[in-house]
Amino acid sequence: MIWKNTDTSYSLMGKMLHWGLAALIITQIGFGLYLENAKISIADLYLYGWHKAFGILALGLIILRVIWRLGSATPQPLGPQNAQAKIAISLHRLLYGLMLVLPLSGWIASSASGFPMSFFSWFPLPAIAPVSEPIEDVFFAIHDIAGKLLILALLLHIAGALQRHFIKGDATLRRMWF
Ligand code: HEM
Ligand code: HEM
Repeated sequence: MIWKNTDTSYSLMGKMLHWGLAALIITQIGFGLYLENAKISIADLYLYGWHKAFGILALGLIILRVIWRLGSATPQPLGPQNAQAKIAISLHRLLYGLMLVLPLSGWIASSASGFPMSFFSWFPLPAIAPVSEPIEDVFFAIHDIAGKLLILALLLHIAGALQRHFIKGDATLRRMWF
C-alpha cells in the first residue's frame, strides 16, 4: 500500500515518514549538541538559524506523521505480545511525545529570547511566546532534558530493532524497510 498501513505492514508513506524524520532528527540532535558545547563565533551564528529552521521543518513533518498515524492501522509487534512487545509500544509513544516536545520547546524558548527567526531566510517565523527570560530559561531546560531523554529512548529503540533482526532473526526491521 502507498498510503495506509495494514495490521501487518507499513505503507510507503509510513516508511518514508519514519526514515526521513529519523535522518532529520538525528541530524538535529548532533547539531543541538554542537551548539550546546562548541564555542560558536559570531560568524557561525547562522548555525543556530539552521537548527531552528530544520527543527520547524521537522515539527511540520511530525504533525503530519501524528495525524497520518491516528488515521491509519498500526502493525502490532511481531511474535508473542509479551513484556518486550509492551515496552516497544510504550517506547513508540514516548518517541512521538518527545518528537513534539523538542521542536515546540525550542520554538517557545527561542521566541522568548526575542531573536528574530526565519525559515531558511525564506519567510519570518512568528514568535509563539512573549519575550521573557524566565520563559526562555524554563523552555530551554525542557529542550535540554527532552533532548537527553530522546537520545536514551533512541538507543533503546535501535538496540531493540537490531536485537530482533540479528539475534531473534524476525522481520521487524525488514517490514519497516522498503
Ligand atoms: C530519530 C530516530 C527515530 C525515531 C524518532 C523513530 C521512531 C519510531 C516510531 C515512533 C516507531 C513506531 C511507528 C508506529 O508504529 O507508528 C518506529 C518504528 C520502528 N523503528 Fe524507528 N525511529 C527512529 C530511528 C530508527 C532506527 C535508526 C532504526 C533501525 C535501527 C529504527 C527501526 C524501527 C523499526 C524496525 C520500527 C518498526 C517496529 C515494529 O514494526 O514493531 N528506527 N520508530
Ligand atoms: C526535532 C527538533 C529538534 C531537536 C531534536 C533538537 C535538539 C536539540 C538538542 C539535543 C540541543 C542541545 C541541548 C540544549 O542545549 O538544549 C538543542 C539546542 C538548541 N535548540 Fe534544538 N532541537 C530541535 C528543534 C529546535 C527548534 C525548532 C528550535 C527553535 C526554533 C531549537 C532551538 C535550539 C537552540 C537555540 C539550542 C541551543 C541552546 C543552547 O545554546 O544551550 N531547537 N536542540
